[in-house]
Amino acid sequence: MYLTNDEELIYNGGKGPTLQKMMEILVALGDIYGADRLIPIRSAQIAGVSYKTIGDAGLEWISDLEGTVRVPAVLNPMGMDRGAWESMGIDRAFAGKQEEIIRAYEKLGIRAECTCTPYYLERPRFGDHLAWSESSAVCFANSVLGARTNREGGPSALAAALIGKTAHYGLHVRENRYPNVTIKVKEPLHGAEYGALGYVVGPKVGDGIPIFTFKSTPSEDELKHLGAALAASGAVALFHVLGVTPEQYILPPERMEMGRQELESEDDWQVPSRYFLPRDHIDLDINAVRQLLREHAEPDLIALGCPHASRQELEDIARALKGRRVKKEVWVCVGRSAAEKDASLIDELRKSGVRVLYDTCMVVSPAANRFKRMMVNSGKALKYVPSMCGVEASIGTTEECIEEACR
Ligand code: F3S
Repeated sequence: MYLTNDEELIYNGGKGPTLQKMMEILVALGDIYGADRLIPIRSAQIAGVSYKTIGDAGLEWISDLEGTVRVPAVLNPMGMDRGAWESMGIDRAFAGKQEEIIRAYEKLGIRAECTCTPYYLERPRFGDHLAWSESSAVCFANSVLGARTNREGGPSALAAALIGKTAHYGLHVRENRYPNVTIKVKEPLHGAEYGALGYVVGPKVGDGIPIFTFKSTPSEDELKHLGAALAASGAVALFHVLGVTPEQYILPPERMEMGRQELESEDDWQVPSRYFLPRDHIDLDINAVRQLLREHAEPDLIALGCPHASRQELEDIARALKGRRVKKEVWVCVGRSAAEKDASLIDELRKSGVRVLYDTCMVVSPAANRFKRMMVNSGKALKYVPSMCGVEASIGTTEECIEEACR
């Protein structure tokens, strides 16, 4: 991989051991994946924050680093709400370690904003290069915003943040962003069904790049849930939706001549399916998706906000509550800064007895482990809650979750 003189100086230790270590990580990845050079990034989002997942070894690794990040950088959710850990049932020893981790990141100039929806803080622009590591955020940035990021690990995202660059390979390269498998969904979907769809087809897609054709037009929140579940049950980092996502017409040059207008004026399906869609396809059993939403056992925790809730989702929850008080434990996970802008909405939820949690989530916090059965509205949480928390999980729509909570 080509390095400029400055980059070579860092690589050889001329700017200190931390930057040398970080450059070694970037160069090693670049060499493995055939990168030609390093490219500047606009922002980084760094995983490996919850003490539950990184433990003492991770804390020690971060604490040994020195220097300051070169681009805006935020963190993935941690193991507790910094302002409410006691009431979450987190013990003092865990909270102490978690604070140490956050301080170690802050020392490097990283903002202690712990969220898997960093695009609610600052929305990347089409074509921006990023180094993000939370899989749902990666999928959203690539697919919904048309920004470019690989699925970074915590250390490589941190390395990119400290150097201000990442290796030019994978999804940073336009030619690697073409869809390679088609999934036709022949019935309209709504709300949590998109997350359930991602849960069902993710394992079949693996790390492919699917293009979906839908009979319904998914909202941004529905795309967020689809991508999060695809990334969790498969290893998807980019998907396209015909007629919806910004790069749906990134196609090999010989197929580029047909314009958007022509596609949109036709019946949704026929023109694109003949000319544009990859021949490989996945047959979808829509009943498997619908069945997932029917399998409910009585939960003792209802947890929403995976990925962290948008303003629209908070409004949907408030609307479903209709001013009622919940009778079960209900968590809504949300990024702190995004939520603080919506203080009155948060107050309204809290008055209904909902626990609104900042900085953390039902999967990365050990506080969820004490429950038996969780009901969620997210395909990603459905996938991770059993393995990460040892808690049974079922999925319902937001309205069904709230009805269950008020029953
Ligand atoms: Fe975010 Fe936690 Fe879900 S990090 S995507 S809320 S598992």
